Amino acid sequence: QPYDLVIRGGTVGTASGAFEADVAVRDGTIAAIGSGLAQGAREIDARGKLVLPGGIDTHAHVEQVSAGGLLNADTFESATTSAAFGGNTTLISFAAQHRGNDLRKVVDDYSVLAKRGALIDYAFHMIVANPDRKTIETDLPALIKEGHASIKVFMTYDLIKVDDEPLLDLLLTARENRALVCVHAENHGMISWMGRKLVERGYTAPKYHSISHPRGSEAEAFTRLITQAALIDQPIMIFHVSTAEGAAVIRQARGQGLKVFAETCPQYLFLTKHDLDKPGVEGAKWMCSPPPREVADQDALWQALALGDIQTISSDHAPYRFDETGKLSAGPNPNFKQIANGLPGLETRLPLLFDALVSKGRPEFAGRGIEAFVELTATAPAALYNLPRKGAIQPGFDADIAIWDPQREVTISDELMHDLAGFTPFAGRTVKGWPERVILRGQDVVAAGALKAAPGSGRWLGRTGGRAAEPTGRLTLDMDPATNFGANIL
Ligand code: URP
Ligand code: ZN
Ligand code: ZN
Ligand code: ZN
Repeated sequence: QPYDLVIRGGTVGTASGAFEADVAVRDGTIAAIGSGLAQGAREIDARGKLVLPGGIDTHAHVEQVSAGGLLNADTFESATTSAAFGGNTTLISFAAQHRGNDLRKVVDDYSVLAKRGALIDYAFHMIVANPDRKTIETDLPALIKEGHASIKVFMTYDLIKVDDEPLLDLLLTARENRALVCVHAENHGMISWMGRKLVERGYTAPKYHSISHPRGSEAEAFTRLITQAALIDQPIMIFHVSTAEGAAVIRQARGQGLKVFAETCPQYLFLTKHDLDKPGVEGAKWMCSPPPREVADQDALWQALALGDIQTISSDHAPYRFDETGKLSAGPNPNFKQIANGLPGLETRLPLLFDALVSKGRPEFAGRGIEAFVELTATAPAALYNLPRKGAIQPGFDADIAIWDPQREVTISDELMHDLAGFTPFAGRTVKGWPERVILRGQDVVAAGALKAAPGSGRWLGRTGGRAAEPTGRLTLDMDPATNFGANIL
């Protein structure tokens, strides 16, 4: 049987090695990997190029109403276009419930938007901000069964935060229905108090946003979250780790055998809090939560990635324009508490990481840069979020492939980006290595610098919780009927 497509002569990268091979595709699926494969109906010459799995970005805010009630700048069409130009073929964004919203309706509404606009494959994390009985007991179990097997909760932000007791309700329903719980973990009271005190004293510039998120607010919330998840043996994913202390808390928990997973983002690996120190409100372009920290934190995060304590790197794409519709929605001179948090990053995540891991060769990965890049940006996310046909170049998997030119040098600029934020916090950086062709299920999405796919060509990926969401089965003493007068509340 002939092949639809053969990608010939490239270096195929996997999480465990890189080797020269042809890759053959039939019916959107990888059919064979080898040398001298038969002619395909279409052929791509990949000599001198790297043939890598398409990136999977598992944390992006798209067409979403923010924590502060502001609609962000991207649509599913613009966000997935930007993601594709950045080498990605799968995106997990959010179906974001706010207080008073019906979760089922929220998921339906985001599904309609994504189905119409997405041009790469996608799934949702369900943000739960209204953990009432109906949400916890009726909607979540049903939606998880229907294929939305991950939940996100916020421990901070006035309008959406979930306190300890409802968080336990959520963790328990996730355990009973086998969903992974992803958490934005920062100590709300510390951030809110620091913000109030700073503004009262006239420290209103964007740079004080960093100061208002004390380093310890992260480690404290991680500890509190991990302790609660451990009480009922529910796996968790800690989003956007930014500090060395936070990474240390995760390392300790994993050392105790707890099922704690973690991600970090390029802004914590490549930016510092000093990037917010710009004249006027310009620093708002570098404002995200948690904020970028220090170079020592960057080093600690790279180390945590190399040790496996942090398993994946997502963008946390959260696009707000630098104008009255976005960052400056409170007026031209807002204080930092009035500025929407978040950075665009779908398109820059992979080039920045390729440059650091493959081209420059971060020392933590000792010559295994290609493997680390593939693992952290595709293979691990597919495993964590249970996308069984995604994240590797392997027979039987979806033919989701990014062909990288390892020699091409590109200076990142606002003009180069395809999302609707209008700026990138990484402008001016030159990276070596660029995704020149992006293929989804055997079809071109980006080729020769042009978009080839139509909105709506991306598919929703229904999924179960998979291995990551399975409890360990070890009960804490507090939950063990053998030590609790026979009581069993799980
Ligand atoms: O600053 C950020 N990250 N904004 C997006 C919402 C969130 O906190 O994940
Ligand atoms: Zn967050
Ligand atoms: Zn410093
Ligand atoms: Zn986020």
